[in-house]
Amino acid sequence: MNQVFNILAPMDDVTDTVFRQIVASCSTPDFFMTEFINADGMQGVGRKATYTRTRYDDKDNKVIAQIWGKDPENFEKSARELIKIGYYGVDINFGCPEKNVVRNGCCSAMIKPEGREKAIELIKATRRGVGKKGFLSVKTRLGFNEIDYSWHELLLSQDINMLTVHVRTRKEMSKVPANYEAMRPIVELRNKIAPKTLLVVNGDIQNRAHAETITKDLGVDGAMIGRGVFHDPYCFSDEAPEIWGKMSPEDKVNLLRKHVNLFNETWPNGERKFNTLKKFAKVYINGYPGAKEYREHIMESKSMDELLQLLNN
Ligand SMILES: Cc1cc2nc3c(=O)[nH]c(=O)nc-3n(C[C@H](O)[C@H](O)[C@H](O)COP(=O)(O)O)c2cc1C
Repeated sequence: MNQVFNILAPMDDVTDTVFRQIVASCSTPDFFMTEFINADGMQGVGRKATYTRTRYDDKDNKVIAQIWGKDPENFEKSARELIKIGYYGVDINFGCPEKNVVRNGCCSAMIKPEGREKAIELIKATRRGVGKKGFLSVKTRLGFNEIDYSWHELLLSQDINMLTVHVRTRKEMSKVPANYEAMRPIVELRNKIAPKTLLVVNGDIQNRAHAETITKDLGVDGAMIGRGVFHDPYCFSDEAPEIWGKMSPEDKVNLLRKHVNLFNETWPNGERKFNTLKKFAKVYINGYPGAKEYREHIMESKSMDELLQLLNN
């Protein structure tokens, strides 16, 4: 891939099949990621609930399914299933900073020296699951408490196709500005150890033009945008931020209505929580007088019928 590419970041309770379709209808990134899917849940008693996260109706989109958990056998089986469903590839989450996840030795906990043996086992198992030629990616941070490039060196020495680095440590959560400069030694490591591994930068990137500037400056292959899409659903367009900036309140409400209707069609039996849907009002209803009050009404709605009525009036 010669051109710089863009990816919609994995976001829990956000990047399900419904939101991915809405983003694609505004402006399409080159790749999408699912919200994180627990591989142990997928292969255990939580299978039914976990499986809703694997739903993939947007087959025109190139979507990478993200998994997390602990058991290598479950990673292998889940990766195999996800590829069978049609996902472009599988990503392993080595970045989630949440306390209960870390306490369990999962995600960013594997950055710590004592977690690395397990991390390698999980990568190897997922490689078996996606197959020799399948697409395997890893998403991580700069380090656990401090920046630690021995972690990236280790990851780049594995058989992975893509490495995404959220340029903050686990300790920093998302509380400090993204540290793009810290990416440069990782670019050097990649060029030396694994020139074929795609390198992606993530953190505070606003839109395609911003991504272009940062990726070119750093010499990485791609940029991942997460929260930027909350401020501008058209952020992957060449014309961002103008399109969203000029959009009328009516068109913004229409986009929310489209999202709500698609959610209703996709999850008719409460498979996904109604509260997660209402939160999207913040994305679409903003930037004009009265938006705040309208959003508050939406947040007060108790049922899908009530919400649809509000949007249709
Ligand atoms: C609501 C929300 C949910 C998230 N869920 C995940 C997740 O499931 N997996 C993951 O790797 N990162 C997750 N993240 C982190 C993002 O993928 C991304 O790394 C982070 O937000 C920094 O990028 P940004 O500044 O472009 O948002 C989440 C972030 C947010 C805001």
